[in-house]
Amino acid sequence: MLNAKFCVLLHLKRFQMKNFKRTTITAALPYANGPVHIGHLAGVYVPADIYARYLRLKGEEVILVGGSDEHGVPITLLARTEGVSPQDIVDRYHAIIKKSFEDFGISFDIYSRTTSKIQREIASDFFLKLYEKGEFIEKTSEQYYDEEAKQFLADRYITGTCPHCQSDGAYGDQCEKCGTSLSPLDLVNPKSAISGSVPVLRETKHWYLPLDKHEAWLRKWILEDHKEWKTNVYGQCKSWLDMGLQPRAVSRDLDWGIPLPIPEGEGKVLYVWFDAPIGYISNTKELLPDTWETWWKDPETKLVHFIGKDNIVFHCIVFPAMLKAEGSYILPENVPANEFLNLEGDKISTSRNWAVWLHEYLTDFSDKQDVLRYVLTANAPETKDNDFTWKDFQARNNNELVAIYGNFVNRTLVLTQKYFGGKVPEISELTDFDKETLAEISNLKSLISNQLDNFHFRDAQREAMNLARVGNKYLADTEPWKLAKTDMSRVATILNISLQLCANLSIAFEPFLPFSSRKLRGMLNMSEL
Ligand code: 2FM
Ligand code: ZN
Repeated sequence: MLNAKFCVLLHLKRFQMKNFKRTTITAALPYANGPVHIGHLAGVYVPADIYARYLRLKGEEVILVGGSDEHGVPITLLARTEGVSPQDIVDRYHAIIKKSFEDFGISFDIYSRTTSKIQREIASDFFLKLYEKGEFIEKTSEQYYDEEAKQFLADRYITGTCPHCQSDGAYGDQCEKCGTSLSPLDLVNPKSAISGSVPVLRETKHWYLPLDKHEAWLRKWILEDHKEWKTNVYGQCKSWLDMGLQPRAVSRDLDWGIPLPIPEGEGKVLYVWFDAPIGYISNTKELLPDTWETWWKDPETKLVHFIGKDNIVFHCIVFPAMLKAEGSYILPENVPANEFLNLEGDKISTSRNWAVWLHEYLTDFSDKQDVLRYVLTANAPETKDNDFTWKDFQARNNNELVAIYGNFVNRTLVLTQKYFGGKVPEISELTDFDKETLAEISNLKSLISNQLDNFHFRDAQREAMNLARVGNKYLADTEPWKLAKTDMSRVATILNISLQLCANLSIAFEPFLPFSSRKLRGMLNMSEL
């Protein structure tokens, strides 16, 4: 009978058929209208960073691309509330977000922004190419217009009574009370959020990406060719496809965004969801001006998008349709989206200030980035929404990081110092137990790799911790402190093996706990990984 571990390996291996030369990893561009919190880190940035660090460890060619999403209506609303310009808002939050990612060791090769000059050029050219190829349809429709403010109103700029739950203050795209998706025309007693006046309907023209025309190839590409995608991602795509795709407007009547690069587009901008994913491309070009196309157009490049579940439709359906319509780009190989992280049983909410903000965490727990990274991965919302609690944070720190990892490393280094003056002692003879313990290093290495190759970060981290468990068991069973009086050559062998385990621990944990791994390598005087 096959043993359980072997079965898991076989199952995980089945999807590892295609060989790629390099990997472009993107992490969703957060809106620059507030700082980032633990939900962002757990859902997107820690997994993206783990994956990038893992591939780099293997010596693969990889880039991790990120940046701030600096357009869109919420930014203009906040600017209006604060009486400052949208540029002031994004300058402020871009700096805060960028610093938080640096502080938590998210190893972006570039972290740029969608208000950059290069983004304006690339996104405009992208739109123009699709426009010239006839990939858009044009439609004129009636939309709400504020006659006092003299502008069309984006969905979020219109409030009114929800037709479903009758609560006031529902937005033109959604009622936050009952969660129903709305269109502005559904609202009872609509009001402009800008002037407070009653808006009127006016005709306006927009450009639409006809997703319905892309439906057939999207169905095959996702539902047949990418059955290995995570169940939550695959399921969401299937339900969108089964409902039937509709044309989506890629332009908006707004004055904050990238202007439509056609004469008829005067006063209009690119829709933020057309603009933002192109940010991945322009940020790559900013990083690698001469070779960026290899990272986006060569079929031997693997493109992987890390996102939260609210972004699935844009990354699995809309952006691929844009890329396909353009014609020269590769499509994502995988989109390992996560579900949401709650905080102490309640939905994380920026407006209710119910969050653990990353910059605030560091004021309470300075240099404890790895503890949070560890807890967020151990509890990652990989298959369902999960909960972050401070009790769990404390327990995982004390019972796992300190009691297992820290305890093993500490005992090994203290004993090496005590008996061998801090020098690595030589092996004399290996017992069967020594050999079995050493074999665990390569067993665990392949288990961790397989889990990481398949985006199972929680399981991968658990296996890495098992290496420290192996170490603790080894020390407990061999008891070198008792042998010190009688058999120093045996003690030397035991500590040599324990040090090898520590060295491998620093490698196994490098993707998860980069700060601690670096520290451990320093203690071991290891220059290389
Ligand atoms: O949901 C969000 O926070 C979006 N700003 C994500 C954009 S991802 C990408 F397309 F840039
Ligand atoms: Zn409602």
